[in-house]
Amino acid sequence: MRIAEHPILGAPEERKTVTFTHDGAEYTGFEGEPVAAALKAAGIAIHRYTKKYHSPRGIFCAIGRCTDCVMVINGQPNVRTCVTPLTEGMTVDTQFGAGGEDRR
Ligand code: FES
Repeated sequence: MRIAEHPILGAPEERKTVTFTHDGAEYTGFEGEPVAAALKAAGIAIHRYTKKYHSPRGIFCAIGRCTDCVMVINGQPNVRTCVTPLTEGMTVDTQFGAGGEDRR
């Protein structure tokens, strides 16, 4: 789900590939890209479930304003994945509710 070549911007520059996990499964992405972009490229759209109705949420504003994309990153809940750079070995987990309680 990545753009391999853009009609105006051309081909993307070479970037370092890093490995991360999402809910225990291993994926790769580009170092420094937003975590949300790496998830989108991997076909993952659900980032969290709301506390009251357990509704799925994912990327909405993509500029760090709405909090729909928050996830548990490296054990820290409520991290906005659309503005958080991907790093090697990062653990990215689906967030349940407001505090990141585990309901897998
Ligand atoms: S999508 Fe809105 S804060 Fe990330």
